[in-house]
Amino acid sequence: MSSSSSLASEISQAQTGALSAIAGASDAATLRAVQADLAGKKSALTVLRSQLGKIQDADERKSAGQAINACAQIVEAAITERMSVLLAGERAQQVASEAMDLSEFVSAKRRGSTHIVTQATQRLEDVFIGLGFQVAEGPEVETDFYNFEALNMPKTHPARSEFDTMFIEPASADQEPNSVLLRTHTSPVQIRVMQTWKPPIYAVMPGRVFRRDTPDATHMPVFHQIEGIVVDKGITFAHLAGIIEAFTKAFFGNEFTSRLRPSFFPFTEPSAEFDIRRANGAWIELGGCGMMHPNVLRAGGIDPDEYTGFAFGFGIDRMAKERHNVEDIREMYTNDLRFLRQFS
Ligand code: FA5
Repeated sequence: MSSSSSLASEISQAQTGALSAIAGASDAATLRAVQADLAGKKSALTVLRSQLGKIQDADERKSAGQAINACAQIVEAAITERMSVLLAGERAQQVASEAMDLSEFVSAKRRGSTHIVTQATQRLEDVFIGLGFQVAEGPEVETDFYNFEALNMPKTHPARSEFDTMFIEPASADQEPNSVLLRTHTSPVQIRVMQTWKPPIYAVMPGRVFRRDTPDATHMPVFHQIEGIVVDKGITFAHLAGIIEAFTKAFFGNEFTSRLRPSFFPFTEPSAEFDIRRANGAWIELGGCGMMHPNVLRAGGIDPDEYTGFAFGFGIDRMAKERHNVEDIREMYTNDLRFLRQFS
């Protein structure tokens, strides 16, 4: 530090060097390293500062100190500004790389639409949700317990033979034969819902079911049902009839009406068959229903002395068939686009 003019030029060189190192840092980590170097013992500014003591003249020393401080502030401000630019860039890059494209691809050409049975299922759910029900689901592969036993059909019950059941090979030799099956109706979900929910229960349970039925105009071996249960205090048959009529009008339209015919199901007592009447006067059977049998409530963990309930199970494919005046239920599954496009 020989003279004040050469000191000024050394400060200016140190500043230029520092600012160009700052500007040259292309990421925050490099800039942090530059910042550490500039604060380190070997940096030009630190060296200049350490030599201040050698200046004899007090005024000269003071102004040299001020010049070094001013330079240090400029360097500090440059670091702060560059850091905020680099961090903002890095953050934007991170957000862009982690972003998920949730936008839906909308093609100019329509690629398909939901099947007539899916449409019916969604509409059924909407109608029942509107009536205050919740939607639940159960497995398609069931055990003998849920499909039969818990529904008041012990091993020797004759009603079992009405469900032409498809059985699954037991997974191991110690499992009883015919103990695992493809559910023949959605009624097993009644039990699963009661076992997990607490009353009051207002639930519908749509799903696919399987029977060894020969296909014809009103039967398929794989078809769909929607089960419904209400379990609450003081539920009577009148509530069941009221819900079925309200449902018929909401689903099919005001020109349709419903009727209940006495019937038999092991899991309901009394039981009824549910028919709807078309505008042309024809009656069509759509499902079964009745007051839940006390044994079924018990199997679901519910005390039949405290609660009563009703249940119903409708064929969804037949509902879709009736709603759209389809002649033959098999047409819905042949995948003939000329047929399917009518409902898209
Ligand atoms: C049952 O499956 C009872 N679980 C319904 C029930 C639930 C009664 C709750 C009482 C309380 P069913 O076997 O009748 O009942 O079948 C109900 C409906 O499913 C029928 O009315 C019909 O609409 C439809 N269905 C039955 N078999 C077929 C089939 N092979 N193809 C298409 N739909 C069918």
